[in-house]
Amino acid sequence: MATTLQINGKPVDVKAAADTPLLWVLRDELLMTGSKYGCGVGQCGACTVLADGQPIRSCSTPIGVLGTAKITTIEGLGGAHPVQQAWVKHDVPQCGYCQSGQIMSAVALLEQKPHPSDEEIASAMDGNICRCGAYQRIREAIKDAAG
Ligand code: FES
Repeated sequence: MATTLQINGKPVDVKAAADTPLLWVLRDELLMTGSKYGCGVGQCGACTVLADGQPIRSCSTPIGVLGTAKITTIEGLGGAHPVQQAWVKHDVPQCGYCQSGQIMSAVALLEQKPHPSDEEIASAMDGNICRCGAYQRIREAIKDAAG
């Protein structure tokens, strides 16, 4: 039975079974490959997308639990989102693999707290691992995007 998901502002019918992780549906069925597979067990943050504005780990979220939640992926930001612009300005990525997840967590943070403190940034970004260690540039870009 098809499941209808709300992805980036549009209803999308998907064929995958209800227990299929959202990340697999995004990447393999919908060919939206911006969300990355890192650990597959909810530990690294590379697969982060938003569900009703909250960051979730799409690798460990079965589509059957999503209901009518509005899913936003990195593709849904459109490329010119203020957080993406700040990322470019601060030349944040090194290898880049974790960056879509980092950006989605940053977007969620700034929607909830437009002017976060250093502690709030650290707390919100805590679950997104960067093996290149781009953390300083990530923090600077978030502060810049916050204005
Ligand atoms: Fe989902 Fe690592 S791939 S948290």
